[in-house]
Amino acid sequence: MSHNLLKGKRGIIFGALDENSIAWKTAERVFEEGGSFVLTNAPVALRMGTINELAEKTNAQVIAADATSEKDLENLVEKAVEILGGKIDFVLHSIGMSVNVRKGRHYTDQNYDWTQKGLDISAISFHKTMQTLYKKDAMSAWGSIVGLTYMAAQRVFPDYNDMADNKAYLESVARSFGYFFGKDKKVRVNTISQSPTPTTAGKGVKGFDGFIEYADKMSPLGNATALECADYTITLFSDLTKKVTLQNLYHDGGFSNMGVSQQVMEKFVTE
Ligand SMILES: NC(=O)c1ccc[n+]([C@@H]2O[C@H](COP(=O)([O-])OP(=O)(O)OC[C@H]3O[C@@H](n4cnc5c(N)ncnc54)[C@H](O)[C@@H]3O)[C@@H](O)[C@H]2O)c1
Repeated sequence: MSHNLLKGKRGIIFGALDENSIAWKTAERVFEEGGSFVLTNAPVALRMGTINELAEKTNAQVIAADATSEKDLENLVEKAVEILGGKIDFVLHSIGMSVNVRKGRHYTDQNYDWTQKGLDISAISFHKTMQTLYKKDAMSAWGSIVGLTYMAAQRVFPDYNDMADNKAYLESVARSFGYFFGKDKKVRVNTISQSPTPTTAGKGVKGFDGFIEYADKMSPLGNATALECADYTITLFSDLTKKVTLQNLYHDGGFSNMGVSQQVMEKFVTE
């Protein structure tokens, strides 16, 4: 269902790897709402994924960029403005990767080269993206930048490993850069804290199946899907949320404010 909420708006969408990706669903919804955009991902992901299929469906061009490379980000922003024919109204940062998680390295036994690589990809890349947009003055006034995060930034989820620290950093960058972007350019910056979602990144976390089920049973509205996350992101890109900034917004069916639910309790009651 389209409401033309993003008609005439131009954007950059990071992180669509395959049709399960939150960024993929967001690109489809942005297109439905009348927005135009360029898609970007790391060169290796472009080779592995099916992004061209999405690009075709949404009339988007694909620009390769490793989000840890300032040079790639500069090229991306310059090209996006040129292709789209003006400044950028919305940006989705939908990037996450922990080498320690991927290689099964426990939180108490980190390989710090991997820790740093994961931090650079998952969190510092958000700063680099915003710094590039800011220095090039590439964002329109009342533009909107959204990053995706997870509640392990606030609470302990042992198997989330060093991604928890990466998300805490990411959320802090959203506030700190959001201050300058708001004051100097009238641009808002927020993070969405999403339910566990079955994507390539999500399923990389140990015990994901049990974990997603647990979150679902704890949440009065159940887990939020990738498509629902896309819908929420559309509202943040639209002109209906112009004064929402520096926020970490929970999109998790209520999970973040729960202590225990009846469905979870029932698993422990013996009589
Ligand atoms: N899936 C979940 O359970 C969940 C929950 C909360 C938040 N998130 C967050 O949502 C975001 C999107 O993840 P997803 O679940 O859609 O998984 P996904 O695996 O589909 O997307 C992750 C993306 O990051 C990209 N990426 C990795 N390294 C990169 C680099 N150097 N440069 C540019 N891009 C790079 C990958 O190519 C991929 O497209 C991530 O920030 C993730 O942490 C996911």
